[in-house]
Amino acid sequence: MQVRTAGADLEVDGATIVIGVMEGLLPAPGSETMFGGVDVDLLEAAGFEGKTSQTMTVSHPEAKALLLVGLGDEADYDRIRAASGNAVRAARTTRLVTHLAVVGVEGATRAVVEGSVLGGFQFRAYKTNDEKTRVEEVEVIDGDPGELAEALIVADATNMARTWVNTPAKDMSPVAFAQEVTARAGTAGLGFEVWDKDRIETEGLGALLGVAAGSDREPRLVTLTYRPEGSVGRLALVGKGITFDSGGLSLKPSAAMEEMKVDMSGAAAVVAATMAIAGLGLPIEVTTITPLTDNAVGGDATRPGDVLRPVEGPTIEVLNTDAEGRLVLADGLSLARRHDPDLIVDVATLTGAMRVALGDKIAGFFASDREVAAKIAEAAARAGEPFWEMPLHKDYRRMLDSTVADIKNVTSTRYGGAIAAALFLAEYVKDTPWAHLDIAGPAVSRENSGEQVKGGSGVAVRTLVELARAMAGAV
Ligand code: BES
Ligand code: MN
Ligand code: ZN
Repeated sequence: MQVRTAGADLEVDGATIVIGVMEGLLPAPGSETMFGGVDVDLLEAAGFEGKTSQTMTVSHPEAKALLLVGLGDEADYDRIRAASGNAVRAARTTRLVTHLAVVGVEGATRAVVEGSVLGGFQFRAYKTNDEKTRVEEVEVIDGDPGELAEALIVADATNMARTWVNTPAKDMSPVAFAQEVTARAGTAGLGFEVWDKDRIETEGLGALLGVAAGSDREPRLVTLTYRPEGSVGRLALVGKGITFDSGGLSLKPSAAMEEMKVDMSGAAAVVAATMAIAGLGLPIEVTTITPLTDNAVGGDATRPGDVLRPVEGPTIEVLNTDAEGRLVLADGLSLARRHDPDLIVDVATLTGAMRVALGDKIAGFFASDREVAAKIAEAAARAGEPFWEMPLHKDYRRMLDSTVADIKNVTSTRYGGAIAAALFLAEYVKDTPWAHLDIAGPAVSRENSGEQVKGGSGVAVRTLVELARAMAGAV
C-alpha cells in the first residue's frame, strides 16, 4: 500500500473520500437536511450515528464515493487509528483520500497510517484467487510527512510479523524462519548470526535442545545485532520461537493445538521491532535473540521427568513438555545477559493462564522493578497497545522447587500459571533489569476491527519500538 500526504485541493476522481464523524455531531433529523453534502435523513435511515466501528458509503458529486466513518465520542489517536482501519476495509475503490488526519490531534497522521496499513493487511498467499479489491493508495490530507514516514516503517514491520505468524508451520520451520530473518537483516542494516544444531550443542543450550529433541526439523538460534553510531543505551530482546507447539509428549488436545503455528509470535515481534528500530535509525544498540524449534513428539522427545541442563542457571526437571516456551527462553535469556544490556525484554506466547486472566485483547507484562514497569506501561500507552502489569510475586517461586533438579518447569496447580512462568524466567535473568511480555491472548486477532485483522496481530512490535524511542531519549 502506498501512503502519502496531500493537500485538500487534489483530484479525487475515482477515489473514495473518507471523513470522520463524531457521535453527537450529526444534526438531529428534521432540524437540517444536509450534513457535509449528505442527506441527514439518509444517515438516519441507515442508522449511522458516528459510533466507532460504524461506516457508511454515500454518493459524491466528484469522487467515486464518500465514506463516513464513526469516531465515537472523542477524536483521539486510538479512535482515528481504528476509524482508519475500518475505512480501509469498507472502501470499494483502490484509492482513498482521507480527511481523518485533519483534526488537530497529536499523532493523527500516525494514527491514519497505522490504521490504514494495519487495517488493510491481507494474507492471501494460500488463497487460490487473489481478486479481492484492496486499497492500494491512501492520500492523507494535511498529513505530516515526517510522522507519516516513521509510522510506515513501524506499520510495515508489524505486517511482516503478521505474515510470518500466519504462515503455516509446514512452511515456517526453524530453518525457514532463520532464512527469512537473515535474508532481510542485511538490507535492514543489521548484523546476524545463525547457530545450527551442532553449534547449539557445542554452546551447551541444553534447554533448547531438550525441546527440539522431539522434532525431525532442526532447531536454530538467530542473533540479530543493531549497532548504530552514537548509541546511548543497550537493549536486548528475546523472542519465543516455537514454530509449532503440539505440547510434546504432554500432548495438547486437538482444539488447543489448532492455532499453535502462532507460537513463534514473540520471535516474529522482536525481529520485526528490531528492523523497525534500525529503520528509524534510533541510537540504541539492540541485540535480538530468537531460539527457534518445533515442540513435537518424535521417538526421542523429552519425557516428563527428564532433566535438562540449560547453558547457565538452574537445571530443569521437565514435568510437562507443554511448558516448553520457558525452556527455550531460559537459554535465550542467559545469552542475552552476556551482552551486558541495560534492559532485557522477552516476548512470548507463554501461558494459556495469561489469556484466561486478561482475555484476547490485553497482553500481560512482568517487570523486575518499578522503573522498568513504568517504561513498559508508558511505551505501550504511546503505542496504543493494551498491556497490563502482573505481579512477580516472589513467594510463589517455591511452587517450582524440584526434588531431583534445581527447578521444575511447572507447578502442581494451574492457579497463577502466568506468574509461575514469569518467576521461572526470572531465574535466568538474575539481576539484569528485565521485562517479560506474555502475549498469549492478543497474539492473534479473532475479528476484523480497527487496525486489527483476523489472524496474527503483530502485537508488541509497536510497544518495543516506543520503548527503544524512550531509551534513545526521542520522546
Ligand atoms: N504456547 C502455549 C501457550 C498458549 C496458549 C499460547 C494459548 C497461545 C494461546 C504454551 O507453550 C503452553 O502450552 N503453556 C501451557 C503451560 C502449562 C503446561 C503450565 C499452558 O498454558 O497450558
Ligand atoms: Mn506449550
Ligand atoms: Zn508454547
